[in-house]
Amino acid sequence: MEILQVKQIHKIYGEKENKVYALRDVSFSVEQGEFIAIVGTSGSGKSTLLNLIGGLDVPNRGQIIIRGHNIASLKRKELTIFRRRNIGFVFQNYSLMPVLNVYDNVALPVTFDRGKHVDHGYIRELLKELGLWEKRKRYPNELSGGQQQRVALARALANKPALILADEPTGNLDSSTTVEVMGLLKESSRKYHQTILMVTHNEALAQACDRIIRIEDGKLYRSGGGSATGTKKTAEAPGTADAPAGKGGDRL
Ligand SMILES: Nc1ncnc2c1ncn2[C@@H]1O[C@H](COP(=O)(O)OP(=O)(O)OP(=O)(O)O)[C@@H](O)[C@H]1O
Ligand SMILES: [Mg+2]
Repeated sequence: MEILQVKQIHKIYGEKENKVYALRDVSFSVEQGEFIAIVGTSGSGKSTLLNLIGGLDVPNRGQIIIRGHNIASLKRKELTIFRRRNIGFVFQNYSLMPVLNVYDNVALPVTFDRGKHVDHGYIRELLKELGLWEKRKRYPNELSGGQQQRVALARALANKPALILADEPTGNLDSSTTVEVMGLLKESSRKYHQTILMVTHNEALAQACDRIIRIEDGKLYRSGGGSATGTKKTAEAPGTADAPAGKGGDRL
C-alpha cells in the first residue's frame, strides 16, 4: 500500500534576483513500511522536501498525498490534527519545549491529542531504550546536544505515527549511539509498520535503508537515464507519480 505520493513538486523561495529553486519537479512514492534515506549535498533541498511532506510549508506546484489525503486540501485545523495523528518529526534543531522536562516533552504529542490515552509504559520503554530514563526529570537546557536529539526522537515515536520524518536524526550522535538510534528506528518501523524518511549525510546509514533517494540541486538524481530515482537497487526502481513504487528490496 502506498502511504505517500509526492507529485511534481516545485518549491521556490524568494523573488526576482533572490529566487532559489529549492525543488524542481520532484516525484516519487513510498510504500507503507519502507525505510528511506534521503541523501544529497548541503543545500540540495532535503529539509525543504521533508517540510513540504510534513505540511509545514506549501509547494508552489504539485501535490503531496498521504494516506490518500491531499494535504493541501485540508483546512488548517484539520492539517494540525492530521499531522499530529500521522506524522512524527525529528528536526535538525530538536525544537524541544524548554519549559517541559524530558518526560513531558516526549509525552507532549500524545497529551495534545485530546481523548488519546497516554501510554506511559511505552514512553518509559522508549526513554529506557534511548538511555534517557535517568534524565526524565531534566530540562532540555540541562542536556547535551546528542541527548536532546534522542529526546526529539522519543517524542517523534511516542504517538506511534504512521510516517516519521527525520532530518539527520543521528547528526549529533557518536557512532555507537548512532547505531542504537538506527536500531530503534528500524525496530519501531517493523513493530508498528511505520514508514520512515530519514535525511542523512552518512553513506553507511543510507546503505542500511530499504531505498535511497538522492537529491541534487533540487532534483531527484536519476541514475543511468532510466526512470530510477537513485536507488540502491536500480532493478527495483521506485516509481514516479505515474509508475508506483516497487516493493523496495530487502526488509530491514
Ligand atoms: N526559508 C528559506 N528562504 C530562502 N531560501 C531557503 C529557505 N529555506 C531553504 N532555502 C534554500 O533552499 C535550498 C535548499 O535548502 P534545504 O534546507 O532544503 O537544504 P538541505 O539539503 O536540507 O541542506 P543541509 O544538508 O545543509 O541541511 C538552499 O539553497 C537554501 O538556501
Ligand atoms: Mg537540511
